[in-house]
Amino acid sequence: MSKQIVTPGRKISGSIEVPGDKSISHRYAILAALARGRSEIDHYSAAVDCGSTLDCLERLGVRVERHIQGLSRDGVQQIAITSAGLGGLRQPSRELDAGNSGTTMRLLSGVLAGQPFDSILTGDASLQRRPMRRVMEPLALMGAHINPRDSKFAPLKIHGSPLRQIHYTLPVASAQVKSAVLLAGLFAEGETSVEEPVCTRDHTEIALADFGADIGRTGRTVRVTGRPQLEARQLKVPGDLSSAVFFLAAALVLPDSSIVVHDVGLNPTRSAVLDVLAGWGASVSVTSLRGGRGELIGDVSLRYAPLTGGLLAGEQVAQLIDELPMLAALGPYTEQGVDIRDAAELRVKESDRIAVVAENLRRMGAHVDERPDGLRVEGRQAGRLRGAEIDPHDDHRIAMAFAVAALGAEGSSTILNAECTGISNPDFFPALARLVER
Ligand code: S3P
Repeated sequence: MSKQIVTPGRKISGSIEVPGDKSISHRYAILAALARGRSEIDHYSAAVDCGSTLDCLERLGVRVERHIQGLSRDGVQQIAITSAGLGGLRQPSRELDAGNSGTTMRLLSGVLAGQPFDSILTGDASLQRRPMRRVMEPLALMGAHINPRDSKFAPLKIHGSPLRQIHYTLPVASAQVKSAVLLAGLFAEGETSVEEPVCTRDHTEIALADFGADIGRTGRTVRVTGRPQLEARQLKVPGDLSSAVFFLAAALVLPDSSIVVHDVGLNPTRSAVLDVLAGWGASVSVTSLRGGRGELIGDVSLRYAPLTGGLLAGEQVAQLIDELPMLAALGPYTEQGVDIRDAAELRVKESDRIAVVAENLRRMGAHVDERPDGLRVEGRQAGRLRGAEIDPHDDHRIAMAFAVAALGAEGSSTILNAECTGISNPDFFPALARLVER
């Protein structure tokens, strides 16, 4: 287990690129495995999670070529996937290991449910504790046969079966569940639709259209037509805004900082965090916006300003879900503190992110009130954070959020098991070190 010492910084300055978006990388790879021909994907994420998806697809018989540019310093990778099309997967000879990746497991369960063969999807200890009923229920309505451990957890034994179309109303806002149903819908005859309680990230919808599926949205309902002929594509993954947020936040912890993140994904279902930071007083601007029909991409510049903080609740929570640990850890750097509500989903992420954020903020001397659906973190007047030993509970976003919070603390901090940051950004600590002036 590697430890990382974080000493206080003076300011952040410079510009960076971040690894390819994790969510989009998974989707491009999975759809390339169902599309006829050789797809080339540029700037595929070097995140360990996205490697897990590639490993699973290889075990399912598609050809995966990985070309890593240079030392993969910014997580730049080019991959190519060759498939015979929608029916191009083959029965795996071994279990499929999704590692720590909920997206791999949930999206692939939608694909595997409709195959003419059986498969087993497993994952690491954290993934084996995460709820899987949410995907099994709609897939069972489509005719899938999935046998989980203890009726709700991975490993999932999937007995591939013919699927039928459904209209499904999601009980929880989850892009992973929506995507599992849409992907299963590719193997069903007719039109499958999913209605979501609030709009979640729409990368699956955009990627399906890119690969040639018939997909549409009316209000909060997305529908896809089954049995399409998907065609191989050449695509480039935008930088991951959810990874960029840690560097943007670092510039809000240290006065006089400024940072530019180039070529980052700005899909409106993901960019709410920039509105929150701007609403709290940060000076944020977006330039070179491009992309049009598909995924938006642009450069984000941010300059330090004292933050007001405030309440994050209701519908916006779904679109901030991966940024909430970082926003909570900014609480002690704000005027009013940060109050997060309606975010019970955080308890079933890679760790119980409400409990783990509260625990580590307290270790640093912050005042925190934990509630079932969120937490309240007191602002600046409660005192400066102190350096501490941080236990991220194997959760990449917790390790990164606290490495950033530690930059403005009094005294140095130790991040335990810091290599877990590789789950989404293997370059996180070197990139941070390049930006911090001490
Ligand atoms: C993701 C969706 C979100 C998010 C996760 C990635 C995706 O999960 O937290 O990091 O790629 O679809 P839920 O769908 O469970 O909310």
